[in-house]
Amino acid sequence: MKSPLFLQLHHDNQEAIHLELLAGLQATNAHTSPKYLYDALGSRLFEAITELPEYDLTRLEASVFAEQAGQMRQVPAGAAWIDLGAGNCKKSASLFGRFKPRKYVAIDISVDFLHESMAALQLKHPALDMVGVGIDFSEGLRLPDGVSDPAEPRVLFYPGSSIGNFSPPEAERFLRSVRTACGDHPSSGLLIGVDLVKDARQLEDAYDDALGVTAAFNLNLLRHINQLAGTDFNVRDWRHLAVFNAALSRVEMHLEARATTVVRWQGGERVFRSGERIHTESSYKWTLSDFEALLRGAGFGVCQAWTDSNQRFAVYWAGV
Ligand code: AVJ
Repeated sequence: MKSPLFLQLHHDNQEAIHLELLAGLQATNAHTSPKYLYDALGSRLFEAITELPEYDLTRLEASVFAEQAGQMRQVPAGAAWIDLGAGNCKKSASLFGRFKPRKYVAIDISVDFLHESMAALQLKHPALDMVGVGIDFSEGLRLPDGVSDPAEPRVLFYPGSSIGNFSPPEAERFLRSVRTACGDHPSSGLLIGVDLVKDARQLEDAYDDALGVTAAFNLNLLRHINQLAGTDFNVRDWRHLAVFNAALSRVEMHLEARATTVVRWQGGERVFRSGERIHTESSYKWTLSDFEALLRGAGFGVCQAWTDSNQRFAVYWAGV
C-alpha cells in the first residue's frame, strides 16, 4: 500500500498577523479577515453550522453531486484531483467513486489538519497517490512544482462556496491563479460550488440561526483575536449581526458593541461607541450568469452549471 506524502510550505508570521489585526481594529470602519474565524473551536462551530436547517448550502451542494454527478461528463477520470481547503477530505472522498482520480492532492493552510484524514483515506484507496500540501492560497494559488505531472489532467476542486469570501475583483484575481494552476492539459478544469442570490430574509436567517450557532461562531472570533493580538475583548460586550447588503450582493457579518467599550492591548486601545461595529465576514452571492462571466473573465473556456431544482446553489465545471 502507498502512503501519503506531506509538504508544509506555509509558516505563519505572528508579528504580521498581530499588526494586520490591530490595523483592522483601528480603522474607522473596524474589520477583520474571515480567516481568523477558524481556530479549533471556530472550525467545529462551522461544522455545526452546516447541520443547521437555516444553512442549506452544504446540503444543497451534496444533493447536486448526489443527483447530477452522472451528468458531469466534462470532469476527466484518471486526473490529479486537487482539493483547495481539503480539511477532513470528506467532500472529495465522497466523489472518488464517481470521478476515479489517479492522484489526490489535498491543500490546506496546515498539513496538521490533513494527516489523520489522509491516512484513513489511503486505507480505502490503497493505490491512490496522495500528497498533502500546507500552503496559504488566500492571496492566490501557486502549486508547488512536482505535485502533479503536467501531462495528466487536473481537476481543481473548490467546493462549499468558499469563493464567496472574495469580493468580485478579488475573486477574479484568485480564479486567474486557479486557471494558471490548471495547466495546459485540454481536459483540465475547475469544479466549484457557488451559493446563489436568493430572498434576503432566507439569506439573513442562514447567517443568524435560531439556535445562535452562527452568533457563537462570530463571537468566538473575539477570543481568537485576544490570543493572536493580546487584546482584552469581552465576548459579553458584543452582539452578532447578519445583514444582506443587496447593493453589493453579499451577506455581511458584524459584531456590534452593546454599550460603549474600550478594548486595550499592549501599546494601544480603541473606544467602540455603543452600536459601533466590526465587520468580520462578507459572503458574496452570485447569479448564474454573473458567475459564468466571472469564470470566463478569469480565463476559463467552456463552462457548465448544475443547480438544485430551486436554483439556490450551483456547481460549475469550468474547463481550461
Ligand atoms: C465557509 C465561507 C462558505 O460564507 O457561508 C458560514 C462561512 N460564515 N456562516 C459562508 C460562514 C457564517 C461560509 N464559508
